[in-house]
Amino acid sequence: MHKKNTQILSSEEHDLDQAATLLLAGQLVAFPTETVYGLGADARQGQAVAAVYEAKGRPSFNPLIAHLPSIDAAQRYVQWSAQAQTLADAFWPGPLTLVLPLRQDHGISPLVTAGLDTLAVRIPAHPTAHKLLALVDGPVAAPSANPSGRISPTTAAHVSAGLNGRIAAIVDDGACGVGLESTIVGLATPQPILLRPGGLAAEEIEAVLGHPLMQRDAHDALTAPGQLLSHYAPNEQVRLNATQAKAGELMLGFGAMACDLNLSEAGDLAEAAANLFGHLHQLDALNKPIAVAPVPTHGLGVAINDRLHRAAAPRD
Ligand code: TXA
Ligand code: MG
Repeated sequence: MHKKNTQILSSEEHDLDQAATLLLAGQLVAFPTETVYGLGADARQGQAVAAVYEAKGRPSFNPLIAHLPSIDAAQRYVQWSAQAQTLADAFWPGPLTLVLPLRQDHGISPLVTAGLDTLAVRIPAHPTAHKLLALVDGPVAAPSANPSGRISPTTAAHVSAGLNGRIAAIVDDGACGVGLESTIVGLATPQPILLRPGGLAAEEIEAVLGHPLMQRDAHDALTAPGQLLSHYAPNEQVRLNATQAKAGELMLGFGAMACDLNLSEAGDLAEAAANLFGHLHQLDALNKPIAVAPVPTHGLGVAINDRLHRAAAPRD
């Protein structure tokens, strides 16, 4: 494991050159995307990918997403399809991950796919992520850059708080705009399936496809292994659908109400998504139980509620 201090890099060209050089040398580099900060490793180097699991303390080899700069680059690794083209045209670059069958000659480490014959691919919209991926000119495996099971990072400071000294570098380019991990759609099955709600509302995808997505629980759980129920966990307990804080609790609000921090006073779901992990990090630092106001369950609210349920779930 990396034992030196973690280097903080900027989004300037010479720093991104340095970040790309580190990645190609098999080192771990955290970088911003529009969803959350990712912990990057060259997806073709098994040792580098193994180091990601070690740095995060990830308990098992759950498959990772390969990040790429362009559709052309993605097509080198997965078997492309008409549906993939339709969704890519509509939503890439952006907070959408597609799971597709691997090509024969892919060169991706089996640690990335956890031995599956499919690969999750994503083209991030963040300009700094794009520049870095273009410099690497290869697939970068990147889970969220947080210790396993903890709150996802939406700033470089969040990454540093969790992983400092365990990774070579962090590219700091401010806060992530979307704030929720990408929506994952499986296209390796006859029907497109929503494998994880995320920063792109399912309704938008369904409008482009012209039909509803299959829901994950209606499908074999093996197609998305390792989605642990307890995740995004603050130090203290989380209580959902609270109308007000009890004694000793901190209140995370939504809409106009009395609270310690508000996801969106205006009741705006995109604003709430962007604030979710940052507000949880802030309240977590105070080491008190957290009560959370109800959040609507449509649009981005589906993914917000998914993350909140995991933050509140019983822990092993
Ligand atoms: O927004 C995001 O997606 C962020 C940024 C950094 O891009 N990344 C991210 O990665 O959230 P991670 O490792 O935290 O979540 C990846 C998810 C896991 O739930 C995993 O089970 C699923 O993707 N996954 C990866 N490969 C898969 C595959 N071949 N089939 C099904 N699910 C897969
Ligand atoms: Mg994660």
